[in-house]
Amino acid sequence: MAKIDLAGKPICITGASAGIGAATAVACADAGMPVLLAARREDRLVEVADGIRERGGKAEVFVVDVADPDACRRMIAAAEDAFGPLYAVFANAGYGVERAMHEITEEELRGIFDVNFFGSMHTVWPAVERFIERRTGHVLFCSSCLARFPLPYYAAYSATKASQHHAGRAMRLELAPYDVHVSTVHPIGTKTEFFDVAGARSGAASLIEHTSDRFMQTPETVAQAVVRCLRKPCAEVWTSRFVRFGMIASALVPTLADLGVRKMVRQRQARDRGATP
Ligand SMILES: NC(=O)c1ccc[n+]([C@@H]2O[C@H](COP(=O)([O-])OP(=O)(O)OC[C@H]3O[C@@H](n4cnc5c(N)ncnc54)[C@H](OP(=O)(O)O)[C@@H]3O)[C@@H](O)[C@H]2O)c1
Repeated sequence: MAKIDLAGKPICITGASAGIGAATAVACADAGMPVLLAARREDRLVEVADGIRERGGKAEVFVVDVADPDACRRMIAAAEDAFGPLYAVFANAGYGVERAMHEITEEELRGIFDVNFFGSMHTVWPAVERFIERRTGHVLFCSSCLARFPLPYYAAYSATKASQHHAGRAMRLELAPYDVHVSTVHPIGTKTEFFDVAGARSGAASLIEHTSDRFMQTPETVAQAVVRCLRKPCAEVWTSRFVRFGMIASALVPTLADLGVRKMVRQRQARDRGATP
């Protein structure tokens, strides 16, 4: 398949006020795509959009809470009002919470699904309607490497990421007859505000706060991988081959996977008890 020329093809990106979404907005604009940046913090969106325009790109902003389906429908309509027929949508907005599964409240559980899973679907549905009609388009979900491994204390988050992954993989085949591409994106630990937000929501995020730099990447690395996928659509975008194969191995030998994280979990539990691990 020949590489797709992205110049002039509009994209809507949620969670574009920070981290992976902001870096992807810049990378897409550099590739010539007009970008609608969406999230809740208008000042941060405007800052990123101004940066894009300074680089010669096209960008508009839309304030949205992706948990609100009507607001998401208005967001997709606003993207088309600004730039004409939309070509791609990146459902990227999301957050994590560090909580044992037996301690998480129903409100917290519904809250994280409302944003990470339902928020993605609210974003994708109105775009897909248009893509099917026009027989063209590309849907991307920002899932995670944890879609394939339920990290203890992040099981609720991992479940939202697995649900995005399942939706995306099925939609890929369901929408293929309409020439609409669907991809899921699986970053590893990425240096963004994600960890601060998870910490603030959880009281602390001690399991991941000391994650080794070896397992961390920059949001720009993810952004470049997304742009490559837009140019040459693929089912899954992995930003670490090592982690991808680790996840496959963990599915084949679950006890091996448990061994891999047992030390991390014990250290966290010892910290909770106030003991030296
Ligand atoms: N960082 C990692 O290690 C990592 C690894 C794998 C996957 N991911 C995934 O990557 C995606 C982006 O995360 P990030 O690392 O870039 O984190 P981040 O820096 O915290 O960015 C999260 C973005 O989501 C937006 N957002 C959160 N709740 C929202 C809501 N209800 N409505 C609209 N926008 C909302 C935030 O904007 P506002 O606060 O302005 O609304 C922000 O722009 C997430 O889906 C995350 O699960 C992250």
